[in-house]
Amino acid sequence: MGFPDQVKIVEVGPRDGLQNEQETIPVEVKVELIDRLTAAGFANIEAAAFVSPKWVPQMATSADVMAAIRRKAGVVYSALTPNMKGFDGALAAGAGEVVIFGSASEAFAQKNINCSITESIDRFRDVAAAARAHGLRLRGSISCAFGCPYQGNVPADAVADVVGRMRDLGCDEIDIADTIGTGTPRHVQQVMARAAAAFPVERLSGHFHDTYGQALTNIYASLEVGIAIFHASVAGLGGCPYAKGATGNVATEDVLYMLHGLGIRTGIDLDTVVDAGQFIMRHLGRKPAGRAGNAIANRRAP
Ligand code: HMG
Ligand code: MG
Repeated sequence: MGFPDQVKIVEVGPRDGLQNEQETIPVEVKVELIDRLTAAGFANIEAAAFVSPKWVPQMATSADVMAAIRRKAGVVYSALTPNMKGFDGALAAGAGEVVIFGSASEAFAQKNINCSITESIDRFRDVAAAARAHGLRLRGSISCAFGCPYQGNVPADAVADVVGRMRDLGCDEIDIADTIGTGTPRHVQQVMARAAAAFPVERLSGHFHDTYGQALTNIYASLEVGIAIFHASVAGLGGCPYAKGATGNVATEDVLYMLHGLGIRTGIDLDTVVDAGQFIMRHLGRKPAGRAGNAIANRRAP
């Protein structure tokens, strides 16, 4: 299979990237980050999560953030919505897409959303119906598709099963997520092929955390089997509060550098993303995690 001419990058830094930060990040900093990402040309930015503030305190300001961002026509700003309370928040905040997030691992579902896989799908049913009624896009995210911090192995059958259930809920897009970054390229291709047997491949996405340094390779492996949507996090921000030791999503700068090098269009300006990464990491007091972003910034230095 040839590579796609064009790939959609969903920038998840403002949500997946920031959710695990211990210090509360001021609303205006989050807003400036999102505005910079909008300026960089992303068509889809995961900007917020309407989840319990007791579970993920950093996301408690999601409504304020969504109210203050400067939106660009055509850009979809997404929000995580585990239940109807979350949906109501996302709708009021003007999210263009709501994300129901489940798991291919029973153990992780319990830890992350406090219910079984089957119970989660039941809760998502109302969210899916409400999204349809209000004309919002619906995305389904499947955590632990390649391994689980609590149960270890996750069979491809379990992933395919949840893909089928998310499809039946009417998801426009489904994310196959390597929450703990343990996946390797052949394994990724096998799971993606199973997922693609249950859902149109052009609407599947790869969400790779880089904990074991495999994320970029896994993206390349996914491209080989027809995946053309990937999630990435500016400066490689992130981690998951319910996956101990999980590091950030693959750095957006690294993904863009590779894709552009392959002659694949993204519509995103890499230099503007590098600046956004420098901006947020200056605030957090750390160096960006990606390689390409740092290399580009170093090359610019006088
Ligand atoms: P629960 O405790 O079972 O829910 O949590 P509950 O319905 O019994 O409600 C308990 C309390 O939470 C109540 O408040 C509710 O009002 C409140 P109280 O009466 O105690 O004051 N509550 C809410 N508040 C705000 N927004 C809401 C909401 N729902 C209930 N939507 C629940 C169940 C799902 C809510 C909880 O487990 C939760 O919020 N989990 C979120 C976990 C999370 O955000 N994890 C990180 C995102 S997923 C991720 O990062 C993975 C991903 O990147 C892909 C990958 O890498 O794998 C997507
Ligand atoms: Mg994630």
